[in-house]
Amino acid sequence: MTRATWLVACLLLANPASADSLRAEFGHALPERARPNGHVVDFELVAAPTELPLVDGHEIRVWAYNGRVPGPTFRVRLGDTVRVHFTNRLPQETTVHWHGVRVPNGMDGVPNLTQPPIPPGGSFTYEFTPKDAGTFWFHPHVRSSEQVERGLYGVLVVDDDTPPAFTRDVVWVLDDWLLDEQGQIFAQFNTAHDLMHDGRWGNFVTVNGRTDTTLQVRSGERIRLRLVNASNGRVYLPDFGGLEPRIIAVDGLYTAGPLDPHGFEIAPGNRVDLDLRFTDAASARYDLVDRFYPPQPNRLASIVVDGISDAATHFPSPAHAQVPRWSGGLHEPVDKVFRLNSRRGGPYGIEWTINDHAFAGHDHAAPPALVMQADRFVHLQFVNDSFRLHPIHLHGMFFRLLARNGTPVDEPFFRDTVLVHSKETIDIGLVPLDVGSWMMHCHILEHAEAGMMTTLRVDASADQRARK
Ligand code: C2O
Ligand code: CU
Repeated sequence: MTRATWLVACLLLANPASADSLRAEFGHALPERARPNGHVVDFELVAAPTELPLVDGHEIRVWAYNGRVPGPTFRVRLGDTVRVHFTNRLPQETTVHWHGVRVPNGMDGVPNLTQPPIPPGGSFTYEFTPKDAGTFWFHPHVRSSEQVERGLYGVLVVDDDTPPAFTRDVVWVLDDWLLDEQGQIFAQFNTAHDLMHDGRWGNFVTVNGRTDTTLQVRSGERIRLRLVNASNGRVYLPDFGGLEPRIIAVDGLYTAGPLDPHGFEIAPGNRVDLDLRFTDAASARYDLVDRFYPPQPNRLASIVVDGISDAATHFPSPAHAQVPRWSGGLHEPVDKVFRLNSRRGGPYGIEWTINDHAFAGHDHAAPPALVMQADRFVHLQFVNDSFRLHPIHLHGMFFRLLARNGTPVDEPFFRDTVLVHSKETIDIGLVPLDVGSWMMHCHILEHAEAGMMTTLRVDASADQRARK
């Protein structure tokens, strides 16, 4: 298994940590409240079937946001209020979930938990003020394994108050497509094969919907490249073909400093922002390849350097001021263990379970698997009893990885999704801030569909209650 070179196991210091000192380490790492600047940005969003020249350019029948795949990239500035007027023109119910955005619970787009599903022909207005700048994305949370696979996903970029002076800001959405002989989306979803393996992996890998994506740049440019994995199940391990980018953000939030992306696995749901400098020759070509599954590398895209830019690009890489180490967090008792596994049964013949429970639609109203208190350190453990991959995603909160298989891991960044490998145990730490009922699920959408989902509830802290 490839491991990032910077995932250096650190020796634990002997001094015992307390939940309070861990909480203090968290400090003001993330803002508790949004700071609306009074500016409301309105967007229209329509989900509808259409036909588009995708993959290698032939017409494919898809479901699309605003008639495109990927859907639109909505851009706002930190402090702006996002208001999305959404209309459902699909033949199915749907919702829109804002992956990674700390929204008020009622705007999270989870059917029957935070809102009723939006019927065909129906509409809903999502409104929230993001608390964090970064790269986020949105997708349906109803029958996601089908709706996302048919093409429903888009990107939300929240710019910093003063964005760093990159010459360009580029979004690349990674996806794969399972096409039939007619070159159309293979119309059976949640097949036994997909459910028994790591979800639906396609036979074509695309960047922004195409296999021929090429980015033209000039020497001297410095580009912020935002990668989003919108695949149902596929994990990417990009090889940058000689380029030496630096990771500056993971799952939206800046890292503590620039990181070597070598070995970084981009699981479904994950985002990675890269700082790319083109300082060399006036002409060059780089071919980016995915090497997650070594026998079958996939071309992702090419970057062609041509010409010279004289833009001023000498600025420090943006970084997050405060990422807690929480190395003492491992010594804190585990607040909750989640065991991940599968068994026979359920509507698909195989169910994916969390602590022996397979989530079914009506469970949205069931008691949460865990109740947490806002503003308190929590130590969670995931034990993968299966041989498959499970990128575990938590709505409404960011966490830090503490350990893999009991070995401390020093990842200097937050995440909202972490890949749990076959038979692996991982520990995470977090301090939830946002009150409400939040989903936790595997982001391999077939696994989620077949039960690997649950809810976590965050109750207000005494401070938060006092302020009400
Ligand atoms: Cu992108 Cu509930 O997930
Ligand atoms: Cu899974």
